[in-house]
Amino acid sequence: MAVKTASRLALVRRPRRLRRTETIRSLVRETHLRPDCFIYPLFVCDGRSVRRDIRSMPGVQQLSVDEAVKDAVAAREDGVPGVLLFGLPPSKDTTGTLAADPEGPVQSAVREMKRAAPDLVVMTDVCLCEYTSHGHCGILDGEEIVNDMTVAQLAQVALSHAVAGADFVAPSDMMDGRVAAIRQALDERGFERVGIVSYAAKYCSAFYGPFREAADSAPQFGDRRSHQMDPANVDEALREVEMDLAEGADIVMVKPALTYLDVITRVKQRFQQPTAAYHVSGEYAMLKAAAANGWIDEPRAMMETLTAIRRAGADIIITYYARAAARVLASR
Ligand code: PBG
Repeated sequence: MAVKTASRLALVRRPRRLRRTETIRSLVRETHLRPDCFIYPLFVCDGRSVRRDIRSMPGVQQLSVDEAVKDAVAAREDGVPGVLLFGLPPSKDTTGTLAADPEGPVQSAVREMKRAAPDLVVMTDVCLCEYTSHGHCGILDGEEIVNDMTVAQLAQVALSHAVAGADFVAPSDMMDGRVAAIRQALDERGFERVGIVSYAAKYCSAFYGPFREAADSAPQFGDRRSHQMDPANVDEALREVEMDLAEGADIVMVKPALTYLDVITRVKQRFQQPTAAYHVSGEYAMLKAAAANGWIDEPRAMMETLTAIRRAGADIIITYYARAAARVLASR
């Protein structure tokens, strides 16, 4: 159909010129995802040749050390630089003793991964909730988590990960003063080179639900509101980040990601430090569930989500989609 010349607008600015072809679009693209901004979380359990599906996180499994090493090496081959390890101990007690076990699943996995892939960045989650019988992140007095006693124990857990060869320890407990205590414990034992990724602004979120199935870490009573942040606050997030940096954090994290994009932006702009965002289990599960129903195009939704997190200011994205996204990027 012929378009009438008379109907043409006299526009000087036509933004659509820059959207005409993929080459032009990529020329003016502002945000680029690269596989090297991804960290891939892994759940490590006891035993051998174990691959146990996690119902609420399709594509994610609990893995014994031997299998976790295979997946870490495969992730590296996909171009993902690093992994974040969570542990499922063979048994639990009230104080989470096994979290610092030198032969625990995480410590063993760290040793084997560094042997199999020396340049793989191995990060370890430091928290007690997977190791305590009550599922809380620390040592209890009645129903209250005792801060300083918990911090002392977390420092020992972090140290056990450093001894095993971890590049970074990542405290996710949200106790006060844990970054300083961990830094001191590491330095006293000669682990100055081991870094700290602090879950600095970690919110008390409904989006951790599937993770608690994966890590078997649901609190047996109550919730995590006494230490994780109120979703309504952002000034407080900046204070948390400032404190963790002052205590020696090398990388600061905002978690979850999608419902806190504004927090990521504020943290990055204010401190200009390496900033990570955790695209958490519930955020992953939502996309998986919608995709399984045929309601969204999963690869597109995945890339759009990860791009948004990066656009908000994240340098590093911790995501269960790390390998899938790296593969999409490699195929472009
Ligand atoms: C441990 C921890 C949690 C997550 C990371 N570390 C769960 C929690 O705080 O309850 C959540 C990760 C995810 O949902 O993917 N404290």
